[in-house]
Amino acid sequence: MTEPTIPADLAPLGDGNPGPAVVKAVIPAAGLGTRFLPATKATPKEMLPVVDRPAIQYVVEEAVRAGLGDILMITGRGKRSLEDHFDRAWELEAALEAKGDKDRLEQVRESADLADIHYTRQGDPRGLGHAVLCAAHHVGDDDPFAVLLGDDLIDERDELLTRMIGVQRQTRASVVALMEVDPTQVHLYGCAAVEATGVDDVLRVTGMVEKPDPKDAPSNLAVIGRYVLHPRVFEVLKDTKPGRGNEIQLTDALQTLAADPATEGGGVYGVVFKGRRYDTGDRLDYLKAVVRLASERDDLGPELRAFLREFVAGLPAE
Ligand code: G1P
Repeated sequence: MTEPTIPADLAPLGDGNPGPAVVKAVIPAAGLGTRFLPATKATPKEMLPVVDRPAIQYVVEEAVRAGLGDILMITGRGKRSLEDHFDRAWELEAALEAKGDKDRLEQVRESADLADIHYTRQGDPRGLGHAVLCAAHHVGDDDPFAVLLGDDLIDERDELLTRMIGVQRQTRASVVALMEVDPTQVHLYGCAAVEATGVDDVLRVTGMVEKPDPKDAPSNLAVIGRYVLHPRVFEVLKDTKPGRGNEIQLTDALQTLAADPATEGGGVYGVVFKGRRYDTGDRLDYLKAVVRLASERDDLGPELRAFLREFVAGLPAE
């Protein structure tokens, strides 16, 4: 793969010596999926289909598109189907081959060939910060890495991760994705206090709070589930005490780094995302994502759009 160049407009953020390339991604996938019960009683939430691919496959594909071919999934009990999904399925492949169904055969093989995927288990679910800490051994102390949360799908037409990687390499700090949300919604997210940097879509993060009360929120900029982190975060996570919900919060570790911008590996920047994001962990947003993505597809779109027009026309006025 050719080394992506760092966009010239990011130059004011660094000293012209970009840090090491980012090649590893960590995908925490140990959560219980309680927002989606009973569907997630025996099926991991990451495996719920968004049109015809499980949600997690979109996330892996996004990582791969950004050049992150080495992926570590943090799983737990009941998540074995994730490993099966990204593995070969010999019996299924043989059956499709015998039928001469080339298209489906290709689709089935695709997920197994996407990336080099590793798995580790978070035996004790002690929060997102703890899940990320489970990646310390795989990632090591030297290189920055990305974290992608499976509930957030970023539309593939809207670039986010590549931009964040550029900012990380230029600043050698940690980078979070920020999105403006309605002030009544900040209590659902990590929230950032920020300062301008001179680069339009990049802010310096001066503080972070996990799921604040709207009246205490430092802004309406919410952390959405993409991070490109300096490996120093592991050292900080080891010393981070349980916070909100009695869990070890990644946001709290990032707050420590944000408060220490002058030390190597310290400092946090935010890339402001204005594109399309779907929270597939939320039932209503999940339904919207399925309808939107299916209606834009070449194979399903024309008929679905025709159905939707008719359906909407027949809806009672409220
Ligand atoms: C997690 C993080 C939160 C972040 C959110 C993004 O929360 O703790 O800071 O804003 O993901 O989706 P969760 O949604 O897992 O409760």
